[in-house]
Order: sequence, then C-alpha cells, then structure tokens
Amino acid sequence: MRDLNEHTITAAVLDRFAETPDPRLKTVLDSLVRHLHGFVRDVEPTFDEWQQAIATLTRTGQTCTDTRQEFILLSDTLGVSMLVDAINHRMPQGATETTVLGPFHVADVPFSPLGADIGAGLAGERLFVEGTVASAGGRPLPGAVLEIWQSDNDGFYDVQRPELTAPSLRTRLRADERGRFHFWTIMPTAYPIPDDGPVGDMLAATKRHPWRPAHLHFMISAEGHEMLVTHIFVQGGPYLDSDAVFGVKESLVQDFKHEAPGRAPDGTDVAGPWRRLSYGFGLKPVHAAAMAAAD
Ligand code: BEZ
Ligand code: FE
Repeated sequence: MRDLNEHTITAAVLDRFAETPDPRLKTVLDSLVRHLHGFVRDVEPTFDEWQQAIATLTRTGQTCTDTRQEFILLSDTLGVSMLVDAINHRMPQGATETTVLGPFHVADVPFSPLGADIGAGLAGERLFVEGTVASAGGRPLPGAVLEIWQSDNDGFYDVQRPELTAPSLRTRLRADERGRFHFWTIMPTAYPIPDDGPVGDMLAATKRHPWRPAHLHFMISAEGHEMLVTHIFVQGGPYLDSDAVFGVKESLVQDFKHEAPGRAPDGTDVAGPWRRLSYGFGLKPVHAAAMAAAD
C-alpha cells in the first residue's frame, strides 16, 4: 500500500479498519473516514487553515473545566446536539417534545416540598408553576421526579455565581398521588451562552449572537418511562426564532399568563402582579419489547 494519492487514500484507510471486530465501531469509523475525507475534498484546506482548525480544537479542549464543557457548546451551536436529540426522540402522540440538556444541570440536588418557593428573596417577577406528569397515553404518573433549573433575573445560573454556596433557582420535586406538582419561582430571563472561548469566537466571526430565549429547564423521570429532558419557553420573549443552540420547538413555547394581585391557586396572597404557567408533561413509555431486549 504505497503511492497513495487523493483518489486512492480513502479506500486504503477504510481497508485498514476492515478487521474491526465490533460492528458498530466499524460502522462509526467507516462513516467518519468517508465524511472527513469528503469534507477535506470539498474545502481543500491550505496547511495554514488545517493548523488553525487543529489549534481551535485544541483550545476547545483547553477551555473545558469541571464547570465548563466547550465541546458540548460547540456541538450545541453547530446544531449537532439537537440533531442527535431529534434522532433519538421520535415521540409518540401525547409525549412532550425534548430539547437540549445544556451545561447547567446539577445532579442530586435536594428535594423541596410541593409549593416551595425556589426564588424566595430574589429579584424578579414572581411566577407560579403548576402542572401534571402523565404517560403519553394520559395515565397520571404519581411520584414522578421533576428536576427544575433556570436562570436568574440577570441571566445567570447559580453555578455561574461562585459566591453562592447553596443551590439557587433549582430543585427536585416529587409529583403527588395524581401526578400533580406546583412551585413558586421568578420569571426566567434570556441569557447569552458562555462566549468568551473558541465557540464565542466562532459566533463573532460569523455574526451570530450568543443568546438563548428565556426558559425553565425540566428533567422528569418516572418508572417505566424514558427520561424527559426539556424546556418550557416564555411566549413573546426575544430570540425564540434565533436561539443560539437551535433548541426551540413550537409546542414548548407557552403562555406565562399575567395575573393581577390576589389569591393564587395554592392559597398564597400575592401583593403585586404575578405570572402563572400551567403545563401537562407527557412521558414516553419504555415499550415491553425494549425492556425484554435489555434483560
Ligand atoms: C442551557 O439552556 O442552559 C444551555 C443550553 C445549551 C448551551 C448553553 C446553555
Ligand atoms: Fe438554560
């Protein structure tokens, strides 16, 4: 295998992987080589450009820390995260659509009781959130666990504020015996994704903005169902049509209703104007066939 040229090298590399015992690994590597070589043939990079590409990927890795994942951000801003999501979540009727997880989820956050105020004492418009968790067919899911997190009034998550020592604007709730939940918080705001690294440079070089429309994050789990990772977006807010990470789906854009001062559904007397979101989540059942295959 000598004297390879631009016309013969792709077949030679594919041939070198021919004995890969794991068929899935072989499929992935074959496709990677074919697409990567196709990309290079298409772009015909100069040596300087190729070095620049490698330097960018190197800096992407070097920008990652325990709390910053620049490769995920790159995947998000290139629309790859949402493409992977779409391929893996072909949802049945009645199931809530999914969207990106994002880098600000924290595992094992303490539970709050239903009705808790996760925005107590924080600046922002008060928001009452109520809803249900059900199977896609409509059967309520008692005890479903909801993980909830959101940005504050300045567009930051608690993990972006090193001065905070306890979770803020995030919690876990357990739905009641009829799959219902409710809590108080403040309105989430639009915010820019971290743009002081190579992903930010890419956005600036291409005249793209880094903003995400205002949303609440939900990760919901219930026995016998696929975990649901989604957002609820605030209807009427900016950036719904130009989300930096392509995560908006029409069904997830909801009316956060304006309410006058007075008594809220949980009996709380609210002195000023407040907002109210009501939403019914539908989870996709894990089918019996899939469960049998996993045994
Ligand atoms: C988020 O919604 O938290 C998020 C998603 C993707 C990239 C950055 C942030
Ligand atoms: Fe977010």
